[in-house]
Amino acid sequence: MSINILGIESSCDETSASVITDGILRSNIIAGQDVHIKYGGVVPELASRAHQQNIVPVVDLALRESGISKSEVSAVGFTRGPGLMGSLLVGTSFAKGFAHAMDIPLIEVNHLQAHILVHYIGETGVDRKFPSFPFVCLLVSGGHTQLIHVKDHLSMEILGQTIDDAAGEAFDKCAKLMGLPYPGGPWVDRHAREGDPRAFVFARPSAGGLNFSFSGLKTSFLYFLRDQVKKDPGFIKKNLNDLCASLQYTITEVLMDNLVKAAELSGIKVIALAGGVAANSGLRNAVTSYGKDRNWEVFIPKPVFTTDNAAMIAITAYYKYLKKDFSSQDIIPEARYKFSL
Ligand code: KG4
Ligand code: ZN
Repeated sequence: MSINILGIESSCDETSASVITDGILRSNIIAGQDVHIKYGGVVPELASRAHQQNIVPVVDLALRESGISKSEVSAVGFTRGPGLMGSLLVGTSFAKGFAHAMDIPLIEVNHLQAHILVHYIGETGVDRKFPSFPFVCLLVSGGHTQLIHVKDHLSMEILGQTIDDAAGEAFDKCAKLMGLPYPGGPWVDRHAREGDPRAFVFARPSAGGLNFSFSGLKTSFLYFLRDQVKKDPGFIKKNLNDLCASLQYTITEVLMDNLVKAAELSGIKVIALAGGVAANSGLRNAVTSYGKDRNWEVFIPKPVFTTDNAAMIAITAYYKYLKKDFSSQDIIPEARYKFSL
């Protein structure tokens, strides 16, 4: 009999639902929340309200598009954390209610582990190779920047991580300083395509070992802009493309330095990218070209699977379902949910 997993994601500002059958994607509906744009960042209280409004129509649409009826769903997977508590509560409560009403297993999913497992989402008509184990994954999102040794679908170890800001945060905060809309990462990417990556040089703080630090870069960017704008108030506008290209180049190089170190130290040549910042064209190009030089087998997710989506929750829940790793109805979300794998 087929295993139909309904996945629910609501950790930040995307309400998403997906259906995966035997590891093959049937639907992946993502509702974004424009309400945050005018505040220049996610407002937690508004995010949870929007999730509450979106969750039923999004799940409804995901089921309709999948052609799977409610009674055919084998289990429901949901993001337990990390994320915003009010947002997580909406998806968790919905998943609990659904599992209870349909009398099916409930499966908690770690959002970060799910970002990595996008590499195992099967799609009808797509002949995709999955990464073999072990591999090293650079997970770069708005809240996290980690190098992970992936031993198996459900067995992973953190090799290094940021000690302050995440890479996505560095993109977003610097973009905000240039007056770009939130989230700034995709805007920086767009402008960077027209700019010179070596036009400006910014600080590249190192955190030692395989860890990252981005707060020094943000400060160096802030002071540089402040000094230049004092001399010429039109500086940012005139140099926007070069500023974006140089910023993106700096962030990419910081990430690549440690990715190369992790590959060398572990001796692993299967390398993957995951998380929202994996949509960045500079980073995608860098991993591809470093990979060619070093004989890596490189895995880069399709853009739709980089930012938050429920397909990644459903695929993780599918692998947990195979192991009968189910959760009880008294489970609660964990805003700071850690890898304990
Ligand atoms: O994984 P994600 O959707 O949410 C978290 O779990 O944090 O990542 C969102 C982050 C934001 O910081 C956003 O600016 C960044 O991913 N991002 C990008 C690009 N697309 C999304 N950063 C740089 N270039 C992009 N093209
Ligand atoms: Zn995420």
